[in-house]
Amino acid sequence: MKTSPHRPTKAVISLEAVVYNIEQVASRLPEGTLRMAVVKANAYGHGAVAVSHYIQGIVDAFGVSNIDEALELRESGITKDILVLGVTAYAAVSLALEHDICLTVASLDWVQELLSLGLNLEGLRVHLKVDSGMGRIGFRSATGIQEAQQALRAQGVEVEGIFTHFATADEVDTSYFVEQEQRFANLLEELEEVPALVHASNSATSIWHPETVLNMVRLGNVIYGMNPSGLALDIPFEIKAALSLESELVHVKKIASQQGVGYGKTYVSQEEEYIGTLPLGYADGWTRDMQDFEVLVDGVFCPIVGRVSMDQLTIRLPKAYPLGTKVTLIGSNGQERIDVTQVAEYRGTINYEVVCLLSDRIPRVYRK
Ligand SMILES: Cc1ncc(COP(=O)(O)O)c(C=O)c1O
Repeated sequence: MKTSPHRPTKAVISLEAVVYNIEQVASRLPEGTLRMAVVKANAYGHGAVAVSHYIQGIVDAFGVSNIDEALELRESGITKDILVLGVTAYAAVSLALEHDICLTVASLDWVQELLSLGLNLEGLRVHLKVDSGMGRIGFRSATGIQEAQQALRAQGVEVEGIFTHFATADEVDTSYFVEQEQRFANLLEELEEVPALVHASNSATSIWHPETVLNMVRLGNVIYGMNPSGLALDIPFEIKAALSLESELVHVKKIASQQGVGYGKTYVSQEEEYIGTLPLGYADGWTRDMQDFEVLVDGVFCPIVGRVSMDQLTIRLPKAYPLGTKVTLIGSNGQERIDVTQVAEYRGTINYEVVCLLSDRIPRVYRK
């Protein structure tokens, strides 16, 4: 999708907030804990290249979801370690070798298939993924890991790390977390040789289970200033939201009572009302279910009225505002604030999804 910098809708990103959040989490972890910044999905919508360049001095590695995201970082000049967290297609493994990108190995089947291709894998770096209960990807037995390790090492592959991922680290009930933790610990005990890097902590684990940190953390959500649990758990230290979503009034009118607004005429004015139009819609990731939620104009909450269209939405204003008046959809405006988690709660989803869905049409503007 084409970015639209000439339209007055933008995501304003504070890179300083990202730095602040990393320091806030990391300063509470055991000394020497390595930091991987998870910048997949375009750094959760914040812009992977800009974020990675700004924080590369205070992190040890980057985590991405696939080889193309890793290549984007390498091509932009990032030289730190990059780990692809998902499964990589065999045809792309040589790209990983060529660009010194570390891959996740998640099954013996994958290893055997890769080795059957007869590629020169000398120097390829990998981390082994353990499925301790997430149920997505990863080895579920020590014997599979041993076999994979041996086969990979025989081909000159460097098995640098082993890791797992928790399904419920952001929940009040810790019983399944403890089960997963135990399974991972048992599996590590069974291994004849444990790779040097052992990691299990995403944001939630780093915040609420610091005893599980091992020697590296993989920090995503929290570095962007969001609470990974939504509203379930309090973060015991301050974080700063890194992203604001801003737009402007591009059209303002006074309508009479009983006038329909938007597709389906789902809103009808009850009296004479001022209606403002904003240049963003569901194609920007501001989904249709945001009807009746609020935005901030001049420090005042104003409801979204009528259906959200693909490229525009309409709000009810308390008075006539000039064209070009700033409107905040996420962030602070005057004395008021709309947090991304409120947006997520309204939409029945998680804050992760709200920021990841902000489309490429919205320019990301960086405030240092
Ligand atoms: C394997 C893995 N590690 C770490 C993370 C980062 O998680 P969070 O954003 O909750 O910190 C993710 C994100 O989904 C992940 O899939």
